[in-house]
Amino acid sequence: MFRLPAIAASLLLATIAVSAQDARPAEEVYKNIRVLKGVPANQILESMHFIKAALGVECEHCHVPMHMDSDEKPMKLKARAMYQMMNEINRASFGGRQLVTCYTCHKGHTTPEDLPAMPIPAAEAPVETKAPLPTVDQILAKYVAALGGEQAMRTVTSRVITATQDIPTGPGGSIPVPAKLERSQKVPNLVLDLYAAEKFTVADGFDGTAAWTKAQNGTVTSPAPGGVDAERARRAASLYEPLTLKEQYQTMRVDGMARVNGHDAYLVIGAPATGTPERLYFDEQTGLLLRKWSYVETAPGRVPFQVDFEDYRNTNSGVKIPFTIRMAPAGPRMELQTTSTLRVTNVKDNVPLDDGKFVKPSPAR
Ligand code: HEC
Ligand code: HEC
Repeated sequence: MFRLPAIAASLLLATIAVSAQDARPAEEVYKNIRVLKGVPANQILESMHFIKAALGVECEHCHVPMHMDSDEKPMKLKARAMYQMMNEINRASFGGRQLVTCYTCHKGHTTPEDLPAMPIPAAEAPVETKAPLPTVDQILAKYVAALGGEQAMRTVTSRVITATQDIPTGPGGSIPVPAKLERSQKVPNLVLDLYAAEKFTVADGFDGTAAWTKAQNGTVTSPAPGGVDAERARRAASLYEPLTLKEQYQTMRVDGMARVNGHDAYLVIGAPATGTPERLYFDEQTGLLLRKWSYVETAPGRVPFQVDFEDYRNTNSGVKIPFTIRMAPAGPRMELQTTSTLRVTNVKDNVPLDDGKFVKPSPAR
């Protein structure tokens, strides 16, 4: 129901030489890898997005444009030395766990602060945790009830949503292009997203078995089976996703309370069988899902992906869906300062949809 933009990930990758599936060691794919040896090639760009955001700089701070392999810029050499220092700290003091990252020290600045700024800002009041916390089952039950209840939700067997959403294009998704989205969904897990921009169309979907993306140039790709992207797409494809959360994660636990956009929320951590744990924030008052937070692991640090769900309204069948979905960054593998917002303009439940509509397209010749 709350399908995330698989599109973002693969769209842009079509314009880059290294595909999301390329898990070969980086040194076999790129020209001048010295410290990131053994890191999967498909992690290099996300690593660079992380470093860029951690230091608050542009790629050109360390790179000669079009010659990323060149070691001409002294900052690139400095960054290599920093990476080794960071790994050494994590190895020597934290048992090899990646607890110190570029961001730990840099916090968005080229030179980390070494003196406290005066006056010391007052600490933010922590969200008061009201004991006892509800159980996972209670939180999920309240969520489903808030959406209209399981019975009402199961009467919906198909849905067509029209919306507006910028498509992230260009390097790291940094060039947003306005587009109209038509999303068709059918039980159990068939999805077709058609994005129409002024000058081009792109599409993605889930055919019941696998996710796919059709890029601007007509190429059709699927994420590596069993990988993080494939598994995320599989979980999100179900029209009844809110009803199946417990099956989607191997374990779920209530972690405490947090504040999300001015609302007190219960934080539930769900660990899928493959990939990294995800955080789900449920409104303490309404029970609705306010935020889903996940990350991609990279060598210099975790790249976060945050999705906020707002403006829940009823569809024609009386179940609630979020009419505004905000993504930051624009996709799980985009540059961290990008954002994208999906705004629903129309939704219609139980529209007759032919199964043929959801077949993975063959690539354009
Ligand atoms: C703070 C410095 C720094 C910034 C900023 C940075 N990089 Fe890098 N980049 C490096 C270093 C260091 C390496 C080499 C890693 C190694 O030796 O294993 C590298 C390697 C690369 C490579 C592999 C090149 C090759 O063929 O060997 C690519 C591609 C790349 N960076 C892209 C980018 C992009 C795109 C950005 C901006 C989003 C960026 N980098 C930002 C430091 C940086
Ligand atoms: C333990 C803290 C720490 C960590 C972790 C760390 N740095 Fe630094 N970094 C520093 C400090 C301190 C300086 C300033 C050094 C100086 O002024 O000579 C610095 C300076 C730099 C500079 C030079 C900036 C400039 O404009 O002069 C670069 C580039 C850099 N770091 C990149 C990185 C990257 C990339 C990572 C992650 C792989 C990283 N750092 C992780 C502490 C850290």
